[in-house]
Amino acid sequence: MKKTPKYQQVAERLTRMIEEGVFGPGAAAPSVRKLSQQWEVSISTILKAYYLLEARGLLVPRPRSGFFVSHKLPSAPPAPDLSDPDPDPTTVGMRELITRIVIHDTLNPKLIQLGAAHPAMEQTATRQLNRLMASAARRMGDRAGLYMPHSDNRSLRQQIALHAMDAGCSLDADEIVITSGCGEAVSACLQAICRPGDTVAVESPICFDVFQYLENLGLKALEIPTHPKDGISLEALRFALENNSVQACVVISNFNNPLGSCIPDGNKKDLVRMLASYDIPLIENDIFGDVHYSTRRPVSAKAFDADGRVMWCGSFSKTLSPGLRVGWAAAGRYRSTVAWLKYSVSLAAPTLSQVAVAAFMAEGGYRQHLRRIRRVYRQRLAELRRAVIRFFPTDIRVTDPAGGYLLWIELPEVVDALKLYRLALNEGIAITPGHLFSTGDRYRNFIRLNAANWSDEALPAIRRLGRVVSQMARG
Ligand SMILES: Cc1ncc(COP(=O)(O)O)c(C=O)c1O
Repeated sequence: MKKTPKYQQVAERLTRMIEEGVFGPGAAAPSVRKLSQQWEVSISTILKAYYLLEARGLLVPRPRSGFFVSHKLPSAPPAPDLSDPDPDPTTVGMRELITRIVIHDTLNPKLIQLGAAHPAMEQTATRQLNRLMASAARRMGDRAGLYMPHSDNRSLRQQIALHAMDAGCSLDADEIVITSGCGEAVSACLQAICRPGDTVAVESPICFDVFQYLENLGLKALEIPTHPKDGISLEALRFALENNSVQACVVISNFNNPLGSCIPDGNKKDLVRMLASYDIPLIENDIFGDVHYSTRRPVSAKAFDADGRVMWCGSFSKTLSPGLRVGWAAAGRYRSTVAWLKYSVSLAAPTLSQVAVAAFMAEGGYRQHLRRIRRVYRQRLAELRRAVIRFFPTDIRVTDPAGGYLLWIELPEVVDALKLYRLALNEGIAITPGHLFSTGDRYRNFIRLNAANWSDEALPAIRRLGRVVSQMARG
């Protein structure tokens, strides 16, 4: 991943000062020469930063007087309300929509990718992992081509167990089953505890992957109201459990995709207790937990698991690369069934990926990588959010997540996100329409945008997208 250019770092610092009111609307920005001396950066860097802030509408140049803070600073819109999904279990049938949108467009490199929830493509870590894979292949010789089932990869499981301590879990390496990504982990956990026709409580909105697994296994979704900041509503969940027969609950506990919500520690503890009192297992997808923007990683619900009912799933797909296909499930009392399901469906995760990730973690590379991406993604997410606020109509609602790299945007009622998705494709831009995050069309006027691959072409893309949204909103 490229280092953020100096002028962008300067622009970020100035933006924070403007947002915090150090320079209020209409105030003169420091002179270019003075700031260059104070911050010990070149005059051309400061000028470039000022031009960038002018393009973002934060500064206005006045001939022979310098730069001034704009009088019309875009004000932050509120987050969407607590969601209000269908109160009854629903049959899942989203295959056609998912195939059309996810497989066809979000993987198309010719589009400006604000759609797929992939991490940044250019990363130092990818090159480091490639080197580690090459050296493992040399060292292992012919064995590199063999299966590496989970019984053979103790060092990776040990590293994940060590890493789990940051999420508040004390796990033994033997409790962890290595899977081909988090998706396979969640799917195997569902299969271990549910039978066709069963009902599964899920946060709403929730990433379409979950609906794929439910559909494949013939399970019904019971969507639970979810808050954009604090995640699943415990009151709504209790009501749902009282009124329905539910066999499992799935949450994306830390930085839900697409909402960005993070269940507070106290709520996680209550969630685990409540589900235990109904004897319902919790499948916890913690795939985004490492991408947090505070001083410590949020804990997992698994940290409060007293009797093995929480199945903690994760992977390296959101932090390193989805193509590694390395994930895990710490499935508590269901471990051996999950291990069997993993083995019987796909035998093992890729051998060289497993060896390289274990080595990368053991030499401290993963920790260092996480520090770097947290800085970069936080900044990219802020840039995307500012651009959306600036170029979209003022009556939108937008989340402000404390981790992950996704924004969830509620557009004016009249804007149909599928129509917008098609118009955006004409502009060469991929976005993800809200229709994919629920079984009904509850989120038909929502979209999800990904900030991880923010680039120079993304800002004009958001401007074009904003123009299209405004036209649609006017009717
Ligand atoms: C919330 C969530 N869970 C699971 C997955 C799939 O993860 P993996 O590629 O590790 O199977 C994704 C990928 O988009 C995701 O966003």
